[in-house]
Amino acid sequence: MTKPVRIYPSILNADYSKILSEIDRVSNVSDSLHLDILDGKFAPNTSFSWDEAKYIISGSTIPVDAHLMVVDCDEQGPRYAEAGCDSVTIHVENTRDIRKTIKNIKSHGARASLALKPSSQIEDYIDYLDDVDMFLIMTVEPGFGGQSFMSEMMDKVSRTRELIGNRPIWLQVDGGISSETIAIASAAGADIFVAGSAVYKAEDPAAMVSMLRALAENAK
Ligand code: DX5
Ligand code: ZN
Repeated sequence: MTKPVRIYPSILNADYSKILSEIDRVSNVSDSLHLDILDGKFAPNTSFSWDEAKYIISGSTIPVDAHLMVVDCDEQGPRYAEAGCDSVTIHVENTRDIRKTIKNIKSHGARASLALKPSSQIEDYIDYLDDVDMFLIMTVEPGFGGQSFMSEMMDKVSRTRELIGNRPIWLQVDGGISSETIAIASAAGADIFVAGSAVYKAEDPAAMVSMLRALAENAK
């Protein structure tokens, strides 16, 4: 039996000058579009401006999953939810009032998710297990596409899956996901897979999404 998985291409390194057609290249086979927002303060890189993000959110033909790597998650989280994102991920390291921000994100009808950098431990955030819709376990340091997958995060993925138990919480991994690594992350317990360079550097991005899905579904 195959397990249900979702594949979210990241457009961090896609060509912004033709961003909507970049999204269209994968929209038929992808579950959601992963939108990385970097302010240059939380991590050493910047990505889309607010106007660019709004253009992407309103123009995308598939749901948008915003990953906020910014210093003011408390303010930005609800703002992205209100703009129409299907899900909004805030970082535990950079949110002053996690419970309130989750509530504010949900009040706009979006799914709320908590992300952990490689140095953060899931055991410190078990208080939020009944509030969140998804956890994101980063498998690279936040900032850039094209980094190497940190297999040492798989223990954290397994521990998070165990803590989730029967709750309907999705478990996302982000960073270095490719045809070489996706089965490892799936076997550890992840069910949502963000893939940037693996998808957009492939000759046929849609075929790569389908291949990643099959590898994740069949991982043991
Ligand atoms: C890194 C971002 C990722 C990035 C993934 O900070 O959160 O979403 O786009 O890119 P790849 O798949 O190339 O590691
Ligand atoms: Zn991301």
